[in-house]
Amino acid sequence: MKQTFTFPADFLWGGSVSANQLEGAYLEDGKGLSIQDVMPNGIMTPPTAEPTDDNMKLIGIDFYHRYKDDIKLLAEMGFKVFRTSIAWSRIFPKGDELEPNEKGLQFYDDLFDECRKYGIEPLVTISHYETPLHLSREYDGWINRKMVGFYERYVRTIFTRYKDKVKYWLTFNEINSILEHPFISGGISTPKDQLTKQELYQAVHHEFVASALAVKIGHEINSNFKIGCMVIAMPIYPLTPDPDDVIRVMEADHQNTFFADVHVRGHYPGYMKRYLRENGITIHFEPGDEEILTHTVDFISFSYYQSSCETADPAKQIKGEGNLIGGVPNPHLKASDWGWQIDPQGLRYIMNAFYDRYQKPLFIVENGLGALDDLITYANGEKTVEDDYRIDYLKQHLIQVAEAIQDGVELMGYATWGCIDLVSATTAQLKKRYGFIYVDRHDDGSGTLERYRKKSFYWYQDVIQTNGGSLFE
Ligand code: BG6
Repeated sequence: MKQTFTFPADFLWGGSVSANQLEGAYLEDGKGLSIQDVMPNGIMTPPTAEPTDDNMKLIGIDFYHRYKDDIKLLAEMGFKVFRTSIAWSRIFPKGDELEPNEKGLQFYDDLFDECRKYGIEPLVTISHYETPLHLSREYDGWINRKMVGFYERYVRTIFTRYKDKVKYWLTFNEINSILEHPFISGGISTPKDQLTKQELYQAVHHEFVASALAVKIGHEINSNFKIGCMVIAMPIYPLTPDPDDVIRVMEADHQNTFFADVHVRGHYPGYMKRYLRENGITIHFEPGDEEILTHTVDFISFSYYQSSCETADPAKQIKGEGNLIGGVPNPHLKASDWGWQIDPQGLRYIMNAFYDRYQKPLFIVENGLGALDDLITYANGEKTVEDDYRIDYLKQHLIQVAEAIQDGVELMGYATWGCIDLVSATTAQLKKRYGFIYVDRHDDGSGTLERYRKKSFYWYQDVIQTNGGSLFE
């Protein structure tokens, strides 16, 4: 029998980006340096002392100057939501100033107005891997309690300024990645191998407090704000049914669920208290922290790219490629060109897991395929990319999303990652493309920066227009 399913009437279809991966203009209109400006190779090599010309993010895809045309293209696809981040260092160039940079604020005013012009809801990540460099070098990022105050000032500024333009906010991008990547995620300059667990988990605590404060302040400024946490969702399967593997999965899972648990439940879970105790870690709570943490999020947002496995067998503990946090590869799954294993059913699984655990609305704010694209020219001169592999990937995932909705999961929206080609976070390459829109820029710095609609552009337009119905035709 032919399946007929459409998504909820108010479903927010759209796409996601982050400021540092597409804006460019890294010193324009008073912007200060962010940690991304000294990461020419993403997470592949340690940061450089100064920005270097080989850093693709310094120009990005020049969205800072071309955003009007780009938003128009997203509107043409029928976007209902556009997730981007505010570059903290455009608003507070060093991060510890008392007064914001007006030109930076004006840029986002204009950007959000442009979205609203087409009826597109902005969904704004407050901190997306782009801590001001000064805060990282001078204060060692989130290890330092002072970061809570700097973040609070930044958040008050943007909430107040954009209170009538932005309704949906995310406090920290993929907050659980800090355990694996303290620099990109927490702005922590101390190299990971010199960082103690005590320092790392204290930094996590500071982010929790800052995030809960944002929720509190946001709801005071506009009670209609919807403020969410954002985590990497990565289902972990046992490599075998050996109970030792299953317990290993549970413990690995706890290192992830810890983050959403604190955001949704407002306190540290028991399993984490045990972990901290057994590892000799004492989190310093300042007076008032416990109360602040009770300001819990309105929804849970997450990125989903892949699942992974865990095993207790040391001989099989191989680390696969992955989105910042990876695990043991699954022998049943194929992988992308960059070795990220593809598992559409994992998305249905994790959505159910989250919803069973929290009974709160979910928002998929990243999902997609990073692939090599070939720009071709048709006889009529039109340029495009025939990216059937991307269409297939997204379709398979969306079919599982539909399954999860039928399982009873409450889902606010679906925003694909990198809806327009941009610079990769992990490898800093442009050739790792996710977009529906091709951008003519290459890793050697060449290219016209022209935009071209890929085949997936029209496919997604159809998905949105039929509210998901076309997935089942
Ligand atoms: C997530 C990040 O980790 O995955 C994005 O939030 C990132 O910033 C995305 O770009 C995809 O990763 P990559 O390395 O392929 O760009």
